[in-house]
Amino acid sequence: MIIGIDIGSTTTKAVSIESGRLVGKIKTRASDAVTSATGSFGKMIIENEIKMGDIQGIMITGAGAANIKNDIFGIPTVRIGEIRAIGIGGVFLAGRDHIVIANIGTGTAIIEAGPEGIFHLGGSGVGGGTILGLAKKLLPITDFNGIMELAETGNLNQVDLLLEDIMEADISFLNKESTASNFGKMLDTAGSGDIALGIVNLVYQVIGMLSVFAAKSRNISRVVVTGNGSKNLIGRKILSIITGMYGISFEYPQDAEYTTAVGAGLSWQAGEK
Ligand SMILES: Nc1ncnc2c1ncn2[C@@H]1O[C@H](COP(=O)(O)OP(=O)(O)OP(=O)(O)O)[C@@H](O)[C@H]1O
Ligand SMILES: [Mg+2]
Repeated sequence: MIIGIDIGSTTTKAVSIESGRLVGKIKTRASDAVTSATGSFGKMIIENEIKMGDIQGIMITGAGAANIKNDIFGIPTVRIGEIRAIGIGGVFLAGRDHIVIANIGTGTAIIEAGPEGIFHLGGSGVGGGTILGLAKKLLPITDFNGIMELAETGNLNQVDLLLEDIMEADISFLNKESTASNFGKMLDTAGSGDIALGIVNLVYQVIGMLSVFAAKSRNISRVVVTGNGSKNLIGRKILSIITGMYGISFEYPQDAEYTTAVGAGLSWQAGEK
């Protein structure tokens, strides 16, 4: 058995991989990398009743991985680059061998994984952290689920300048309800729900358009969405509107928030240890 640990900027994900299959997964949150790695490892062992002797190795990745310099609890511990881990995990969870991945975590990375290798196409600092940061000052709410519940009640027309606000007819493939300027209207009557929706909309529109450009540049028509941001239902709706306009679809593999950890774990078998 191999344990893959992804020490992300916000959350740490750990998975156990047995004979190339994902058999256990846990998510934790800790303030420092060492506590995250050892804590998630311990939780995995206890919750899944794993015997220490059955673990061949630990693969760690993510923003905090560089802080773990030695073996964890005497088990061979190897570091793998985050971009490679996302690529390997994305191919495995999507079940296809040539994909563009939008990994929506605290920030967003866009990666191509295919027969020719794994390439970091680019990304954006706009991601889940942007939602939490803007919400903290503008709403003010810090609980992620609370922000999403508020956003469900929101009306974009209160905060975004829409095309219908500035012109009569549709413009090219954009319909009248499309955003012309995120937060470009911000009416005095805009409430917390409207602002919450405006924040989520801003983040997913930016990520959606970056993904479209990345996919088109690689001649790929589907983008695999991973990271905790792949679970966001309002975000998925916004991406589906982008699909309607640009013909690039977005797919959400099961366990996509564990993609990076899965890729790290699988890379052991691939001989990258
Ligand atoms: N229940 C939740 N608790 C905390 N954050 C959540 C939750 N659901 C979604 N999120 C969002 O997911 C983001 C974290 O996602 P994820 O765990 O994939 O990132 P990460 O791996 O820590 O960061 P990165 O990959 O950018 O280093 C948070 O910024 C937050 O906006
Ligand atoms: Mg991550």
